[in-house]
Amino acid sequence: MDMTEGCDEALMAQAGEILRRGGLVAFPTETVYGLGGNALDPEASAKIYSAKGRPSDNPLIVHIASFDALPAIVSSMPAEAEKLAKAFWPGPLTMILPRGERVPLETTGGLDTVAVRMPDNDLALALIRAGGGYVAGPSANTSGRPSPTKASHVMEDLGGKIDAVIDGGSTGIGVESTIVDLTEDVPVVLRPGYINMEMLRKVIGEVRMDKGLTSDDPSVRPKAPGMKYRHYAPKADMVIVEGKRENVIRTINRLAAEDIRRGRRVAVLTTDEGAGAYPMGLVVSVGTRKDEITIARHLYDSLRYFDKAGVDSVYSEAFDTPQVGGAVMNRLLKAAGHRVIMADEE
Ligand code: TXA
Ligand code: MG
Repeated sequence: MDMTEGCDEALMAQAGEILRRGGLVAFPTETVYGLGGNALDPEASAKIYSAKGRPSDNPLIVHIASFDALPAIVSSMPAEAEKLAKAFWPGPLTMILPRGERVPLETTGGLDTVAVRMPDNDLALALIRAGGGYVAGPSANTSGRPSPTKASHVMEDLGGKIDAVIDGGSTGIGVESTIVDLTEDVPVVLRPGYINMEMLRKVIGEVRMDKGLTSDDPSVRPKAPGMKYRHYAPKADMVIVEGKRENVIRTINRLAAEDIRRGRRVAVLTTDEGAGAYPMGLVVSVGTRKDEITIARHLYDSLRYFDKAGVDSVYSEAFDTPQVGGAVMNRLLKAAGHRVIMADEE
């Protein structure tokens, strides 16, 4: 079944029925496409892991359609949870809370905490309601590939392995939700997203960033199990070049020329502002620095495009923009396997 934008009630009821029977339906959210299954059904969760090829110790996010649905799946509710929900739900924020008994351990990867979010997308909310109120939804990609931001990405990865895809067009934000853990003394961000530290601090005061996300020491593990895996990576060797704009351009052009001389196919990841500055290789603009969300929105599509184009090396500018730059750079660094070089000085 393939549903188009503004899908009608009968089709939505059918999709809900698939979920209630334990099947899998991929759906759009404001961040990326999710792979939905009934979060309270351990067999549905097992199917999700198997369709994605995902390790089963990597917990799933439970998607809900109303705040009233929350108490039934958590064992207690920290005061900050209510404040954050009021401020950001529906929206790109996932909260880690103490797990309620109704949520099977299969859904939480064996953990006694549960991740919950209410997505800001009408099709997602309608599907959650039609499916019984609790939809487990990891990103709808094969484990290790970039998250899908279009229905066609979902089909590339999971076509034939799932029961239905709801096509809601391209997703607006393009990087996964911010995850904040409210089971610690001080709330901790386990995954950066569109909702950044500053926005969280305005609502709940003190917030920390998980040390595992920023430390150079590989023995300091991120707390979100999913953040430890190699992820989002294109098949090509990817390097991020940081520094002053002119130096970055000169350095990338030097490296690209060297690679091309050695017979390698080269791509450059830049923005509209830089696209004219690279005479060699496949030049891809991810968005515009004048509207930073366009960079987040097209990041994964660009990474998938490099695979299709079959390039051997990718040189990327850094996109450390004010609001969503932290989230974008977190994904870009993973895609590059943390290979960052400083641009040549003049
Ligand atoms: O924007 C999003 O959050 C998307 C859309 C579909 O909602 N979903 C998504 O799910 O990104 P997924 O499964 O690809 O990423 C969930 C992340 C993983 O890194 C996982 O380890 C972490 O959340 N996580 C889930 N439950 C957790 C828990 N109880 N404690 C710590 N981390 C948890
Ligand atoms: Mg994912």
